Amino acid sequence: MSKSSCCGTVGELRPIGIVRSVEGNVSEIVVHPDLEEGLYRLDDNREILILFYFDRSEGFDLKVHPRGDPSEPLVGVFATRSPRRPNQIGVTSVRLLSVNGNVLRVEGLDAWEGTPVLDIKPVRRRDELRMDKVRGKTN
Ligand SMILES: C[S@@+](CC[C@H](N)C(=O)[O-])C[C@H]1O[C@@H](n2cnc3c(N)ncnc32)[C@H](O)[C@@H]1O
Repeated sequence: MSKSSCCGTVGELRPIGIVRSVEGNVSEIVVHPDLEEGLYRLDDNREILILFYFDRSEGFDLKVHPRGDPSEPLVGVFATRSPRRPNQIGVTSVRLLSVNGNVLRVEGLDAWEGTPVLDIKPVRRRDELRMDKVRGKTN
């Protein structure tokens, strides 16, 4: 990897919203009102990706036991979904239940109440198709 691509800082992230409430498997995400227009037609999608920041995570180990289970053999942190990672970024695919103004209701988000949300994207079937194609070439 060239020095220019690693390992300084890149850009500056500002949360676009916050996880406001979590009840069972359903969460509400409040998007900053200035960004509400960016949600236009998001509800055309049933499944979306939520990128968020593990704000209550501290430090990281490069090798971890998956799911924190010491009986599991160690693997590299990048082979896991651990919240303790060099950049504290989480990504979860969730079901979009509703969009009301700047408030989303989603099902399946594994981020705690108060978690800063960094981005929202639709899940694209064509990405899966592209991966099917890649697998077809290598398998
Ligand atoms: C194993 S991580 C996986 C998250 C996401 N699905 C991913 O793959 O990036 C999910 C766990 O992170 C923890 N967590 C959730 N919100 C957090 C936050 N704001 N700060 C630190 N840890 C958090 C909770 O224990 C939650 O069950």
